[in-house]
Amino acid sequence: MTDNELIELAKKAAQDSYCKYSGFSVGAALLCRDGRVFTGCNIENGSFSLTNCAERTAIFKAVSEGCTEFSAIAVAGGEKGSDLSQPCFPCGACLQVMSEFCGGDFRIILTDGVRTLNDLMPSRFAL
Ligand code: THU
Repeated sequence: MTDNELIELAKKAAQDSYCKYSGFSVGAALLCRDGRVFTGCNIENGSFSLTNCAERTAIFKAVSEGCTEFSAIAVAGGEKGSDLSQPCFPCGACLQVMSEFCGGDFRIILTDGVRTLNDLMPSRFAL
């Protein structure tokens, strides 16, 4: 699975985004160490704080199916209906959820290149 293929899967997942409040659609494609890929989209709620981001949707889908070892996640987002070509950075909450399962070398693939978890969240909370 190439980085470009993962970005394309993330863009495809964004088509299912439920974003009636923000009009901002996000998709994620999570590559597991065993080769499986889980995708997710953002799911908004009229009680705004209950919104779930695309990255967390993908991670929670994977964990709920027994997969907890990940090597990369691709993220694509932008105004609904746009080409999602501009980089869409994961929010702090999603980075914290990634840090629960992933080391600092976890690859975060955006439309303009790759970062690591260490790049985007160098100091992370851990129990
Ligand atoms: N969003 C994500 O899906 N992932 C992020 O990392 C940041 C934000 C979503 C949440 C909300 O539905 C919309 O983008 C606008 O904030």
